[in-house]
Amino acid sequence: MSSKNTTMDKIVALCKRRGFIFQSSEIYGGIGGFWDYGPLGVELKRNVKDAWWRDMVSGHDDTTPPDGAPASYSMVGLDSSIIMHPQVWKASGHYDLFSDEFVDCKTCKARFRADHVQDSQCPRKPSKCPGEHADCELTEPREFNLMFKTYVGALINLDAEAYLRPETAQGIFVNFKNVLTTSRSKVPFGIAQIGKSFRNEITPRNFTFRSREFEQMEIEFFCSPDSSQDWYSYWRDKRVAWYVSLGLQSEKLQLREHGPDERAHYSCGTADIEYAFPFLEAGEFGELEGVSHRSDFDLRSHMEGKLIREGDELVVERNEHGQPVHPGSGKDLSYFDDSTQTKYVPHVIEPSAGADRTTLAFLCEAYDEDAIPDEKGVPQERVVLRLHPRLAPLKAAIFPLVKKDGQPEFAADLYRSLKKRWNVFYDEKGSIGKRYRRQDESGTPFCITVDHQTIEDGTVTVRDRDTTSQTRIKASDLEATLAENLG
Ligand code: GAP
Repeated sequence: MSSKNTTMDKIVALCKRRGFIFQSSEIYGGIGGFWDYGPLGVELKRNVKDAWWRDMVSGHDDTTPPDGAPASYSMVGLDSSIIMHPQVWKASGHYDLFSDEFVDCKTCKARFRADHVQDSQCPRKPSKCPGEHADCELTEPREFNLMFKTYVGALINLDAEAYLRPETAQGIFVNFKNVLTTSRSKVPFGIAQIGKSFRNEITPRNFTFRSREFEQMEIEFFCSPDSSQDWYSYWRDKRVAWYVSLGLQSEKLQLREHGPDERAHYSCGTADIEYAFPFLEAGEFGELEGVSHRSDFDLRSHMEGKLIREGDELVVERNEHGQPVHPGSGKDLSYFDDSTQTKYVPHVIEPSAGADRTTLAFLCEAYDEDAIPDEKGVPQERVVLRLHPRLAPLKAAIFPLVKKDGQPEFAADLYRSLKKRWNVFYDEKGSIGKRYRRQDESGTPFCITVDHQTIEDGTVTVRDRDTTSQTRIKASDLEATLAENLG
């Protein structure tokens, strides 16, 4: 019997209890917007990133067009630096525009994003804000750039100013020519990158959903202008299917196409892939990934300088002397297509996902509570993480039923042989019921128990996390059985 009643408090408590996610610098009282992944969390997040990399990059077949794709294409990877030349952020527009508006409550001094405040009133509960709400006064909205500033080298002056990247994407754009020539790729092709990004969010909140340091999994897919709408549709569908393939239920997942007013000025189409996180009101969804048709905006910006829209055109922003306000590199980032003998600046489709938000969505989706009978048949409540086997931090746990009669030795041998292939866990402490429940909370798909019969006939029991049913198989067949079920 499953009674899904997922609240954020329960998820946060489980993450702490089992070592998925801790508050950063907790022993000093924590620091807002930063999180640490514990032993199980680091495995889960790594599995999310590995699944993405495998499914989007290394496992991609370059030779055959996949279902729905307009043509075959190649995918390659990149790992660019976090701190880049400051001109990157000026040409890209982040220096001038990557900001949120904030307001302060004059009574309690709390700060809010202007778009999170309604009715010009302090949104804190009356018990937290000492002013009567009706008297509360908010400051006028002010702009706040979200990029973290730092200094490169020993001198702290204007010339040494640099920024921690707020997205991994720009590292891809500025390396477009390097990757194109060295990988011998041809357009259409994609460059993928996973890495840390930093945003000085005004109000980090909802656990890891909005943090100040987080990881992104981004693809910049380069294509010809005339095929770009088809590629946009292709990537939207492919990315939704990826979440579903790893267990996000379709009714909690939605693809929301942005209206023209919501899109960036250069975008010809943007869709968000969203999930109904438990911290949201019923019917609300939070963004997991944006898939954006960015036209030739990015490569042109890094060629010519910061672009602004004038009517239907993207033009370089110039000062009163006609000079670019933020010049680009001046390098030619266009592409010559041998097959059509044409030269163009490639258009870009960008599926941009957050590794932390995706991990959180998988945790929320997997969380379940049910009751299972103990050894005496008495129902015991349990928390179980029904994670997809590809994502589960531990693939199996191996238990000797008792700590004698050769069972620990047999179980340890099994553990050592399975460990060569998977992340498995050995546990001989506590009652078998408690050991099962600990693994259920960790999302471990299988528990393997060595008992007195094992010593007689070489068989072990394999317990399924989701159904709790147990089957007895030969220990010699265990590796093949796990391989078949772990996917
Ligand atoms: N290059 C495009 C770009 O960065 P974005 O919508 O700002 O687009 C992409 O970010 C994804 O990165 C989001 O869908 C989200 O999953 C993740 N993300 C953005 N800001 C975040 C934050 N403060 N905390 C956690 N994840 C964040």
